[in-house]
Amino acid sequence: MTPVVLIAEELAPSAIDVLAYDFDVRHVDGTDRAALLAAVAEADALIVRSATAVDAEVFAAGHALKVVARAGVGLDNVDVPSATARGVMVVNAPTSNIVSAAEQAIALLLAVARNTASASQSLKRGEWKRARYTGVEVQGKTVGVVGLGRIGVLFAQRMASFGTRLIAYDPYIQPARAAQLGVRLVGLEELLRESDFISVHLPRTPETFGLIGEKELNLVKPGVRIVNAARGGLIDEQALAVALAEGRVAGAGLDVFVAEPTTESPLFAFDNVVVTPHLGASTAEAQDKAGLSVARSVKLALQGEFVPDA
Ligand code: MLT
Repeated sequence: MTPVVLIAEELAPSAIDVLAYDFDVRHVDGTDRAALLAAVAEADALIVRSATAVDAEVFAAGHALKVVARAGVGLDNVDVPSATARGVMVVNAPTSNIVSAAEQAIALLLAVARNTASASQSLKRGEWKRARYTGVEVQGKTVGVVGLGRIGVLFAQRMASFGTRLIAYDPYIQPARAAQLGVRLVGLEELLRESDFISVHLPRTPETFGLIGEKELNLVKPGVRIVNAARGGLIDEQALAVALAEGRVAGAGLDVFVAEPTTESPLFAFDNVVVTPHLGASTAEAQDKAGLSVARSVKLALQGEFVPDA
């Protein structure tokens, strides 16, 4: 019988074409739990992005599963220990969207600095209010990068060309590597106190969840602008709303939220908060790279061949 590849989220058409040649490709809405559990029962492979929770229940229902692929960076929505216990291979595409994610962080940073989103909404409402949307320059400012992994490095390299002073908090990076990038390594507290802009670039783990909470937001330089295009929950949303209301934080750019999908948040009430619905990886280029990378890995896994690191 032709192996079944179940696609639970949007995947690049080029990747679907690669799979459709050899496999029975089926689609399901990964956020529709009942439909997912029913469909995965017949699947040999499951492909997701970030919205589908691939937990123990999914592995139990997917008794024929041989491989689960996450078309993106990180594996936070895949229960890897459950996969391992059932002998299911887990693959992802760790470099597919790093440029897109770094560019999204920069887009949000600039939008927050220049009030782009709120000024656009205002003009479309029929207002012409230049003074209300006066922003700040980025040049000469201190930008604090929390996490100098692949995406953090791309973000820092690009921000350097804006004439910023770059500092970073990352306990795992070698100081020599940071120096090579023109970034000064500091402790988290120093980064919070000194930065005019902060951008976080960390995975969501038990250690990083809530890393920037009430205590940290009490330490920030007044008027700081904060960006999160990494993972929801790294910045405590309630604490950020309080800091915005009190004016300690002058603006925020958020692509990710503690619970997704979401259409409600206290943060949506602020004119100086720019929000997007987890679009960091949503570019044509990143989706092609992620889709093709996992399609190749799934194909090799289902054909019983060695799957090299993506
Ligand atoms: C990722 O982890 O690479 C992205 O968040 C995936 C996505 O956009 O769904």
